[in-house]
Formats: sequence, structure tokens, C-alpha cells
Amino acid sequence: MINIGVVGCGYWGPKHIRVCHELRDVTLTSVCDIDEQRLQPVQNQYPAVQATTDYKEFLNSNLDAIIIATPVNTHHDLAKRALLNNKHVLIEKPMTATSQEALELIELADKKNLVLMAGHTYEYHPAVDFLRELVNNGDLGDIYSIDAARLNLGLFRTDVNVLWDLAPHDISIILSILKENPIAVSARGTHHIDPNTYDIAYLEIMFPSGAMGHVHVSWLHPRKIRQTTIVGSKKMAVYDDVSETEKIHIYDKGVATPKPYNGTNNGGANGKFSAWPPNYRYGDVVIPFVSNAEPLKLECNHFINCISEGKKPRSDGWVGLKVTSILEASEKSLANGGQREKLDLGAIAIL
Ligand SMILES: NC(=O)c1ccc[n+]([C@@H]2O[C@H](COP(=O)([O-])OP(=O)(O)OC[C@H]3O[C@@H](n4cnc5c(N)ncnc54)[C@H](O)[C@@H]3O)[C@@H](O)[C@H]2O)c1
Repeated sequence: MINIGVVGCGYWGPKHIRVCHELRDVTLTSVCDIDEQRLQPVQNQYPAVQATTDYKEFLNSNLDAIIIATPVNTHHDLAKRALLNNKHVLIEKPMTATSQEALELIELADKKNLVLMAGHTYEYHPAVDFLRELVNNGDLGDIYSIDAARLNLGLFRTDVNVLWDLAPHDISIILSILKENPIAVSARGTHHIDPNTYDIAYLEIMFPSGAMGHVHVSWLHPRKIRQTTIVGSKKMAVYDDVSETEKIHIYDKGVATPKPYNGTNNGGANGKFSAWPPNYRYGDVVIPFVSNAEPLKLECNHFINCISEGKKPRSDGWVGLKVTSILEASEKSLANGGQREKLDLGAIAIL
């Protein structure tokens, strides 16, 4: 049995609390929040769980592991203190506010032989598992682009801008599907409600294979959209997370690359190709079955299994570091009007 505690009982923490309460081989022992009022509903629902506003007292309760669901600027300090107290740690996305903070936590967890995991919930989503396998098996062919949109009206945050709030999901999805380290990013954004906080942002992520990732995030959109489109040389796939029953569509559509001009005909368009226009292919659309298992439950279960079996999590500290590094570079690019920022993630292992 693993004793677990949750720090942060705002919007997202209570979801972890519910999941921990439901998981087998786990006892939800204690919860912590600096705001007493946030603790009250948790205490009402789970009277056996200890609740405190004092983080030191929380860490000294009988805990093997903790989940951190507080604002990002608190993650490093809370995680560091937990690791120093020999607790395994799962930190909500984005794992840290800087790459330096992430590196420090990785080193500390390694030294202490503790599990450090980033809460990249979508990496555990059955639909993302399906897409990963589709791409791994070569079913879509060479990947040309992955285009993601995560849009809605709100929720506005004051601690981070829209990129740090929403893009970690899409960045982690793209990284886990492409299995390449990006080489550069470029980001543009605008702010309309709070003059100091970007509420609409567009991020481009360049990969060495030539694949392009594109992420559009917004708190100012009339519709809730959570969509990822993968365009491959053989097929294309669209993942619509808002759909209840048809999350993935696979399109047998494509364009055959025309052969270069070989001197035996008129040279096609501009004399470059032996035939023009290229051949378009319109085939079937397949809607595969995707399990509706809850991603957060799968994520927390994975954390528990990694602790029990001494394994590295799929979204370990290094993956958390990659996402933070991409966000850091994007922030620089945002400040420089979309200037391309180089990334050097070469030393970080590909997932
Ligand atoms: N994985 C997901 O899908 C997902 C979804 C939403 C939020 N999140 C992440 O979860 C984290 C929390 O987000 P939220 O929306 O719940 O924020 P929130 O503001 O609603 O809640 C944060 C809570 O943390 C408490 N808190 C702040 N500093 C603290 C400290 N030092 N010690 C103890 N408690 C402290 C606050 O009082 C508040 O109750 C963020 O990192 C966010 O990005 C993840």
C-alpha cells in the first residue's frame, strides 16, 4: 500500500484527490493547501484524510509520495522539499517555471533514487496512445506536420500566460508522437484582457526530420476546441478530444509526390515535374475504437506502478524538462515578435 498526499486543492487538485481515493493499492493520507477554505470541501468529502495548511506538517505525515497541483511558480520549492524528505513526486504540468529548476529536481530525485514524474495527462490518454502507435507503425507514412488547437473562452489565469497554461498539453502530445527533439521554436501572441498576459498564442516547433509542429492556444475563443491533426505522406489523422465517441478519424487521403522532369515530356508545371498536377488520393475514413478510460487515472496509476516497481515514468523529469525548455524558448520568441529561437535538447534522450 502506498500512502499518498496531494498539495493544492484548487481546481485540479481535487481531481487528483478523487482519483487517489479510487485507486487500488493507494491510501490517500493527507492533503495540503495554504488556503483553509480550499481544504473544507475535501475534509467534508473525505473525513478520514488529514488536512493542513502547513506544508512541513504535511510532509511529516505518513507519506510515501505526493502530487503537486499548485501554481507553477511554487512547483520547484514544494518538489525540492518533498524529495529532500524522501517522497516520490508527481508534479502537475508544466513541471517547473525554468529549465534550471527542472534540472535541479532531476538530479535530486536521481541522487535519492526517487520517482519524479511530470503530470502530462494527455501522454496517458488512450487516444494519444492510439496515435503514437499509428505513427510508430508507419501507418501514416512520413510525418509532415502535427497541428494542435486548444481553444475556449477562459479560464483566465494570472500566474501564467495562455502558452504556459495550455500549450504543455500539446507540446507533450507532439513530442510523444514524433519521438524527435525539436531544434527551434517561434511564437507569436497577443493580449486583450490583461495587458501583461498573452491570451492568444501561436507556436511553431521545428524538428530535424522537417516535420513541423504547430500549436494554437487561446482563452478567447467562442467554441471549446481540442484538436490535433497529423498529416503524413500516406494517411492523415484527426484527434478531436471534445467528441465523446469518435475521438479519432483516420483519412486515407494524400497527394502522390510528382516525379522530377525526365526529359521525355513537356516538363509539367514550370518544367520541374514529369507530370502535373500531382495525383490526389481520396479513400476511406476510419473511426477506430478508443477506450474511454480516464487519462488522469491512468497517469496516477502509472505513477504508483513506477514507485512499486522502481521504474522510470513515461513522462519522467527529462520529459518535463523538455516541455519547460520549449516553453522558455517560446517565451523569448514571444517577447521578440516571433523570432526563431534555437533549442539544444540534443543531450536529452528521445522518449
Ligand atoms: N493536467 C491537467 O489537465 C491540468 C488541468 C488543470 C490544471 N493543471 C495544473 O495544475 C496546477 C494547479 O492548477 P489549478 O488550476 O488547480 O490552480 P488553482 O489556482 O485553481 O489551485 C491552486 C491551489 O494551490 C494552492 N496553493 C498555492 N500555493 C500553495 C503552496 N505554496 N502550498 C500549498 N498550496 C498552495 C492555492 O491556494 C490553490 O487552492 C497547475 O500546475 C496547472 O497547470 C493541470
